[in-house]
Amino acid sequence: TNVCITLFPILLCVLLVLLQGAIDREIDKPKYRCGCACVDAAADGSCRRTECGVQHSTLDQVASCPIPTPPRWPALVQLPTPEARAISTASQPFDGLPGQTCRDAGSCPAAFLVTGANRSLAESLSGQLFPALSSPLNFTDYLGALSKIVPGSDTTPESRQLLEPAFTPGNTLYIVQPQCRSNLSQTVSVNAGIIPLRLG
Ligand SMILES: *[C@@H]1O[C@H](CO)[C@@H](O)[C@H](O)[C@H]1NC(C)=O
Ligand SMILES: *[C@@H]1O[C@H](CO)[C@@H](O)[C@H](O)[C@H]1NC(C)=O
Ligand SMILES: *[C@@H]1O[C@H](CO)[C@@H](O)[C@H](O)[C@H]1NC(C)=O
Repeated sequence: TNVCITLFPILLCVLLVLLQGAIDREIDKPKYRCGCACVDAAADGSCRRTECGVQHSTLDQVASCPIPTPPRWPALVQLPTPEARAISTASQPFDGLPGQTCRDAGSCPAAFLVTGANRSLAESLSGQLFPALSSPLNFTDYLGALSKIVPGSDTTPESRQLLEPAFTPGNTLYIVQPQCRSNLSQTVSVNAGIIPLRLG
């Protein structure tokens, strides 16, 4: 038994070394490394400068690339999807909530619950939360424009490289307003750094 007790740590170390070797071999595969390419070949065929990045990577490799200058996104508030927005029901009979019909039409407004002992004070304070928009937004300076108002999104934040799903084509970027306005729809197409922004 003394021999066993002495040998056990050694056995453990050997196992760890073997495991480390296997893991190193696995993550060293090209699939897990950012793609690189020679961008400046010398006349004799040797490479003077190698460049690595998303532009030289396959879809498998992209996730391993560093992103030195990611595009900047404004802060968004999370909104419920149209079918999950509050409506007035028997168990939830608050004033001011819309009925079931808007849920069928997918046009329910997003309701915000404001509480306070002094109703007039609560109303005047919460009235300042979502600045009303007077003119169509100028998206040339999209960060500035979207920072002066409250943009929102009902997409699920995912671990997508670089991209907030609300800014990918086919998704909606909401502008939170005190009153819904149907004439505010705007289709946007601008470039945020390397990424084209297309909002519809
Ligand atoms: C409620 O707030 C208003 C200011 O918005 C103030 O004038 C009023 O006295 C307050 N009422 C109570 C009952 O505290
Ligand atoms: C948007 O703003 C840019 C400068 O920030 C200006 O050059 C452009 O004319 C504006 N576009 C509109 C439609 O107002
Ligand atoms: C949009 O509708 C609001 C009222 O809901 C109105 O005050 C505003 O002038 C309209 N804007 C345009 C550009 O039609």
